[in-house]
Amino acid sequence: MTLSPSNWPKKLFTSTTVIHVLVFLSVASSTLEAAAGGSTFELELPDAAQSEEIKVKSTDFPGDFVFGVATSAAQTEGAPKADGKGQSVWEYFAAHFPGIVKDNTKFPDGIDSYNRYMDLGVGSYRFSIPWTRILPSGALSGGVNQKAVDHYNSLINELIKNGIKPSVTILHFDLPQALEEKYGGYLNRSFVNDFRDYSDVLFKTFGDRVKHWVTINEPKVLALYGYENGWAPPGCTRRSIRFTEPLVFGDYPKSMKESVKERLPAFTEEEKTALTGSFDFLGINYYLSGFARNEPNPSPEAMLPHEIDAKASDQVAKNGVVLGNPLGSYPEGLQKLLEYTKTKYQNPNIYIAENGVGGFRNDTMPLEVVLNDGFKIVYILRHLNAISKAIKNGVKVKGYYIWTLLDDFEWGTGLMFQYGLYNIDFNDNFKRMPRLSAKWYQAYLQKT
Ligand code: BGC
Repeated sequence: MTLSPSNWPKKLFTSTTVIHVLVFLSVASSTLEAAAGGSTFELELPDAAQSEEIKVKSTDFPGDFVFGVATSAAQTEGAPKADGKGQSVWEYFAAHFPGIVKDNTKFPDGIDSYNRYMDLGVGSYRFSIPWTRILPSGALSGGVNQKAVDHYNSLINELIKNGIKPSVTILHFDLPQALEEKYGGYLNRSFVNDFRDYSDVLFKTFGDRVKHWVTINEPKVLALYGYENGWAPPGCTRRSIRFTEPLVFGDYPKSMKESVKERLPAFTEEEKTALTGSFDFLGINYYLSGFARNEPNPSPEAMLPHEIDAKASDQVAKNGVVLGNPLGSYPEGLQKLLEYTKTKYQNPNIYIAENGVGGFRNDTMPLEVVLNDGFKIVYILRHLNAISKAIKNGVKVKGYYIWTLLDDFEWGTGLMFQYGLYNIDFNDNFKRMPRLSAKWYQAYLQKT
């Protein structure tokens, strides 16, 4: 049985926009008494986390606002062959391009989360299901893997039992390698059929309990890293694409058609109709903002292909000045992006599907320093504050997911960055330890 866009469950979204940075704030701290789990404990929070400027409480958000955490399978699960899993493009890429993927030998093990569950007391958990666990050959004709179905059934049931809403990403960068080899993956229209088949299996198998589906994580990043600079699979340099406009208006923007010309695939009339307004919510992954410089006469020598097509170049700084504080945190950019999206795309429902910040891994640092990530709490509060302002200005933001629950494998940068609310000890059987941010988030959500 196939599924066409017109009868897909009305719970899809596509993520957009992301670049990230690490932020270290040097912070003074003071003690806050926080209620958690019925008891009280003391958290040494940075003073900046309690400044008037960002005094935003969880109760300042609408009652149905969802607070969650996010992960992705390829970055955490490990167990690359367990239960008959097939190979993803990232497993292939990490094995064959060690020069591009740092710590590549660690990629297959992730942080072993396929074999471990945990609970943080959040309202929602965003995770991805790897295509190659459910359909090991990539195609439905190769059969559905019942063992994997059992595994995710039990995870989903466990979440629901604990009052945590599952939010499932269908594809978070881990396309089946078999489809890459068979027809070139995303660049071939056959991808649409296989993606539809795979999504259909997920909807029919888990859709009775999962009501929130994220279609494709960061298509723009996927295009840029996979096809332009080659930092991600398949690693070739071809072309770049834009995504939000067709989902709202059924077609690419006029300016884009004019500049990309025949390299831009055309939608059929049927596809345009099916696409228009075909999402229930838009997912935004926001880490920081940069500048775009108008380039009326783009230079092929100095600019990337997507910049040439857009007649604009990406700039980190303007006249030597970066946006926001010098370390890259710019919550005002999130507020502006939200308000722009409201105006430009007919005021859609929006989820902040990822937001967070990572510190540099330094295994010689004492554990108490590694666990003391007050800078992350400040970063999160600053962004929650920006979201709250956007909501007051009429933007329909429905939820917020911190990236990420546990330190993970950060794609090409390997284990270099620690985004986790939980620290992972890679030298001690992936032992998990809550950072200050984990304790704070729990307390923050429980406070009334
Ligand atoms: C991705 C995540 C990644 C995060 C932080 C986002 O681009 O969706 O998979 O780990 O940024 O680097």
